[in-house]
Amino acid sequence: MRFDILTLFPEMLSAFLNASIIKRAQEKGILTIQTTNIRDFAENKHNRVDDAPFGGGMGMLMQAGPIVRAYESIAGGLEYKPHVIYLSPQGTPFCQSRAKELADDYQHLVLLCGHYEGIDQRAIDSIVDEEISLGDFVLTGGEIAAAAVVDAVSRLIPGVLSDEECYLEESHSKGLLEYPQYTRPRDFRGMTVPEVLLNGNHAEIAKWKREQAIRITFQKRPELLKNYCPQDSFEKKILDSLNKENE
Ligand SMILES: C[S@@+](CC[C@H](N)C(=O)[O-])C[C@H]1O[C@@H](n2cnc3c(N)ncnc32)[C@H](O)[C@@H]1O
Repeated sequence: MRFDILTLFPEMLSAFLNASIIKRAQEKGILTIQTTNIRDFAENKHNRVDDAPFGGGMGMLMQAGPIVRAYESIAGGLEYKPHVIYLSPQGTPFCQSRAKELADDYQHLVLLCGHYEGIDQRAIDSIVDEEISLGDFVLTGGEIAAAAVVDAVSRLIPGVLSDEECYLEESHSKGLLEYPQYTRPRDFRGMTVPEVLLNGNHAEIAKWKREQAIRITFQKRPELLKNYCPQDSFEKKILDSLNKENE
């Protein structure tokens, strides 16, 4: 999978790109991630890439020219059009199912990071296929959002995580939050690990995990359960009893 990130501040991304799982996946050749500095595509002697908005208003806007030229430096020689995502507070809120679709449907994503007051609409109209938001709040730039998208998509690409099981049971992968987890020691300041996790009975452990996932989702994010279809009579029983308890 290839990611190209168009940004005015590549240094904001370098720590993220050069650490942990994302770094290892690049070393293994599973991911190729490049940042392109939009400022390199300015065409004036001070390398300016922003200007005041027409019609007035606060702050400065990133100009269309440098952004589109930066994009063309990546896509110009390709025989296909990479999928271009503008990270924007006006975009569709990002979620696990969109991360999965992006991982499955595309080989090459271009992520465009705005800054200041945002970017000239004509850059969006020229190259952007989709706008994604990290949530209903405003960041100073799209870099943190781009890092979040790269991270969430990358870990769904085969080989990036050491064990695919890592994400199959995770929060949001099947519409539920994950069950609580414990590691050594067995007793931490008088708080002990649930006995069922220690007895080696895999069927019982799997049942416990499913029940806990439903209970935790009910407590923390009950709205997720509105779209959740119980997998069998066991899950239906748990949901019915939780609903009854809360009537
Ligand atoms: C200060 S914001 C511009 C906000 C813009 N004036 C508006 O009101 O819609 C600067 C840049 O940060 C990024 N950004 C801000 N909030 C974001 C969010 N919630 N999700 C993704 N990107 C965001 C975008 O790339 C945006 O161009």
